[in-house]
Formats: sequence, structure tokens, C-alpha cells
Amino acid sequence: MTRIAVVDGDGIGHEVIPVARKVLALLHPEYEYISVDVGYRKWEETGCPCADRDLAALKTSDAILFGAITTPPMKDYQSVVLRIRKSLDLYANLRPIRGDGFDIMIVRENTEGLYSGIEEATPDRATTLRVVSRAGTERIARTAIRLAKERDGLLTIGHKANVIKSDVFFRDICITESKAAGILYNDKFIDALSLDLIQHPKNYNVVVTTNMFGDILSDVAAYLVGGLGLVPSANIGDEYALFEPVHGSAPDIAGRNIANPIAAVRSVAMLLDYLGDRAGSGRIETAIRTLIAQRICTRDLGGSHGTREFGDAIIAELSRNS
Ligand code: NAD
Ligand code: IPM
Ligand code: MN
Repeated sequence: MTRIAVVDGDGIGHEVIPVARKVLALLHPEYEYISVDVGYRKWEETGCPCADRDLAALKTSDAILFGAITTPPMKDYQSVVLRIRKSLDLYANLRPIRGDGFDIMIVRENTEGLYSGIEEATPDRATTLRVVSRAGTERIARTAIRLAKERDGLLTIGHKANVIKSDVFFRDICITESKAAGILYNDKFIDALSLDLIQHPKNYNVVVTTNMFGDILSDVAAYLVGGLGLVPSANIGDEYALFEPVHGSAPDIAGRNIANPIAAVRSVAMLLDYLGDRAGSGRIETAIRTLIAQRICTRDLGGSHGTREFGDAIIAELSRNS
């Protein structure tokens, strides 16, 4: 039986994930669902935001549906999100940006770079080691190349090789792998790429980059499609997979029933693609587009539906077209 672990997390995770879970349960009532509680609230209650047994529970699943987690205000804090990505070796973070006439897949390396966790701080100096390994780069390059082939499109390698040695290394490995695979590729400095992607989104297809550049680029690119409330992501490894909105727990709007659940619902579509249900994934995207075309949407998109009301509308739409 297919087993789905569901993590609401914190903040608007408690609002958008219930909507996403309902959509998934409507399409797949036969799946087994387990809830796993990790995050800031759990840290407040227990002093530990994510226990070893929580990680073990996540590892029993075929796929994880994840909300977002607030960073607890504690010293020497290790991010739960990063801990999960590392423990499950979810090395490829795929962030699609689809709009009118463009379809971009940002492929973000997800386990190393500036997020390697090798750092120290003294009263006078703080350092963070940016690790870019050959194995880590080869596997993310190959993931991006596979996607570029599937999509029959250009691969753009985003880096800062004019300044950072570890990015000369990253760029060169990506180029070597692209040449070996015989795909069309180019490379750009990440700063210039960030603006050009916004000005000329149609010139991009797959973009591969290191961890933190990918983090920033995906939030910026969300501008092209109407904001963070719309962009889903897949965190994929060889054994496990986790699906989450690109946005965070949004404490500024949490608890007000105004968060846009589309990013979470689209994360369900990515989960279904991963599990091989392309029809289900397509139905979700069609339902979202149908509702937006009728201006049934939350207020970040100019609508007046609450999170729950949009959730009811998408369930009704999917039920109508079953
Ligand atoms: P955020 O993504 O939570 O919010 C940024 C802005 O976008 C806010 O103004 C918010 O209201 C808006 N926004 C986000 N999602 C929205 C939605 N679905 N609908 C409408 N508006 C939405 O980023 P932040 O405020 O910088 O971070 C808040 C917390 O979330 C921090 O503790 C951060 O560490 C955490 N975070 C967690 C994850 C994760 O768990 N994957 C991702 C990003 C940030
Ligand atoms: C994201 C988030 C995370 C990241 C944080 C919460 C660790 O911003 O998923 O984009 O930086 O990867
Ligand atoms: Mn981010």
C-alpha cells in the first residue's frame, strides 16, 4: 500500500496542508496517511523540534507532504527542514515556474553548498564552509540533464565562477556532464541570470544551480507567476521524496484563513507525478486553472476566497470532473 506521511508544520502549514491533504485523499482514498508532528510548536512543547523517531516515521513513507516550519529562536539551532533533507538525502530540489509562454524548472542542489552545516562563530569572526563535492555536483547535474532531455530544452548553469572557486568547480562539472550527454546548454553568472530570468523568462527551460543560489532564485522567480502562494517543490533523493510549497510558515498571515493553498495543492500534483499518477496530477492543475479563470482565488491573487473556501471550491471542481 502507498504510504503518505503528512507534516503540517507551523504557521500557514496548518491551513494549506489540510487543503492539500483533502485533495490527495479525494484522488487517492486508498493511500495510507500518517501524520508526523515536527516544528516550532513541537519545540515549544517538548524542547525538540524533530525527534529521531519522527525521522524514522518519515522514512517509512513512499512520499512526504510537507507544510513549512518556523525557525525556532534558539542558539546553535539546526534547521529541521535541512535536517530532513540531509537525513533522507533529498539531493534534488525541483521548483517549477510555469506561466504564460514559459515553463522553467529550477533544479537546486539540496544537500551541500552553503548549507553544508560546517561553520563556527567566535565573538570576532564567523565562517561558513561552502562545500561543493564532485559526487554532489555530478548527481544534480545529471538530474538537470535528464530533465532537459525530457523537456527537449536548454540547460542553463547558474554560478558565480568569476569570484568563487567552488563555483568554477560546479560550473566545469556541469559543463563536462552536459557535453557528455550531448545536450544544449549555456552558463550565466547568477546575478545577471536572476534579472534576465525575470526579463526574458521564455529564454529559460531548466536552470541548475547550487543550494543557496537556488533558494533565492526560486523566491525571486515566483514573481513571474503571481507570488509565493503558487509555487510548489519536490525534494527528491534515490530513496525518499518530500513535496512542499516553496514558501515558508508566513507568520505575518498565519491563522487568518487568507493563505493561498495553491502551492501546497500543486505540491500534491508533483507528488502524484512522482508516484506515477500523471492523470491525477493533470486533473489538479486543470482544476486550479479553471478556478483562477473564474476569479475563484485568495486575496494575494486579487480574489476574495479564504483558504478553506478555496479548498472547498477545488474539491467541488475535482468532484465535478471525476
Ligand atoms: P515566507 O515564505 O513564510 O513568507 C514570505 C512572504 O510571502 C510573507 O509576506 C507571506 O505572508 C507571503 N506568503 C508566503 N506564503 C504565502 C501563501 N501561501 N499565501 C499568501 N502569501 C504567502 O518567508 P519568511 O516570512 O521569510 O519566513 C517565515 C518563516 O518560515 C521563517 O521561520 C523561515 O525560516 C520559515 N521558512 C520555512 C520554509 C520551509 O519550511 N520549507 C521555507 C521558507 C521559510
Ligand atoms: C526553502 C526555505 C529553506 C531553505 C529554509 C527554511 C531552510 O527557505 O525551502 O526555500 O533555505 O532551503
Ligand atoms: Mn527559500
